[in-house]
Amino acid sequence: MLEGFWYIAAECRRVRPGRLTATTLLNQPIVLFRDRSGTVQALEDRCSHRGVPLSSGRLDGDSILCPYHGWRFAASGACLEAPVLGNGAAPKSAGVRSYPVQEQDGWVWVYMGNERCPTPEAPPPTFPVPADGSPISMLRMSMSVKSRMDFAVDNFIDPAHVPFVHPGIFRQQHVPRPKEKEFTRLPQGFRTVSTNVLLPNTIVFRVLTPTLAPAKTTVDFLMPGIHLETFEVGARWGAIMVVVTPLSEDSTRLDFTMGWNFLRGVFPLVWLARLIGGTVLQQDRRIVELQEQGHRHKSAMNLSLESDQLAVWYRRLQKYHLDKLAGVPNLTHPVPEKITLRWIT
Ligand code: FES
Ligand SMILES: [Fe+2]
Repeated sequence: MLEGFWYIAAECRRVRPGRLTATTLLNQPIVLFRDRSGTVQALEDRCSHRGVPLSSGRLDGDSILCPYHGWRFAASGACLEAPVLGNGAAPKSAGVRSYPVQEQDGWVWVYMGNERCPTPEAPPPTFPVPADGSPISMLRMSMSVKSRMDFAVDNFIDPAHVPFVHPGIFRQQHVPRPKEKEFTRLPQGFRTVSTNVLLPNTIVFRVLTPTLAPAKTTVDFLMPGIHLETFEVGARWGAIMVVVTPLSEDSTRLDFTMGWNFLRGVFPLVWLARLIGGTVLQQDRRIVELQEQGHRHKSAMNLSLESDQLAVWYRRLQKYHLDKLAGVPNLTHPVPEKITLRWIT
């Protein structure tokens, strides 16, 4: 699990004023709350006294009271008060860790750093917007997966599973087509752009373009686990972002955002998007959890095909990030500046 990145901790609306919200990111227990100004704060969810989760305590103004002995913690993580000492005195170095937080596109992002990368170099990733500035409708969904993060990321960047895991949704299984995609390097990942894409005759694409007009698609992968797709057909624009977050070694959450600039506010479209998005996520969850089962028996993979190259780059990008944090000199980006990969789906 990689430190030095922003991760989604929760949907903004789930962090309610006056409440403490417990979550876990990268094996670290975290408590989220809104201070009196409405700003979301994130603290280590573990009292520095005897380790009770602070999320089991009480929010009092801008601070949290531990339920065991009433120690009071500020949003900065500082311990303001230990009642047993009287007069509001607090023991020195009794603070808990606080995390940088930012709300973006309806999600609460928390920066998980370490001593090598204590503060974020950039704000969290943003959901794209149409070039013409047209307003968009948005939909958000989350799903937990009982697997390590890497298998979930592999799944989203894998082109070869689509006809098998999602039959009839994105492709018609019985008409396999040779694909040739040019990939380019991004500072934190890779991109492939396709123009004049002939869309399969499935309900997803019929909604996007009733006449199945040729589309332009852009698919990005960004570290540590962000899959971003945009579709353009004339003035119609749609985007999907899947953010994969490691909660622990063997549990992961997928946070899914969809946005579109057409038929906005039309109830059946929102319903359909939720139905299809939920179905796709369920299908991916099932296969990833099955993969995790197989790896209990033996942890080895054959990533030798061109369609597996993206999973190989993902692993090299992880090492690249760790090497960068460790200050290894003369590093080269592991993705070629430009390369064409071929497969049949
Ligand atoms: S455990 Fe929190 S105050 Fe004692
Ligand atoms: Fe999938």
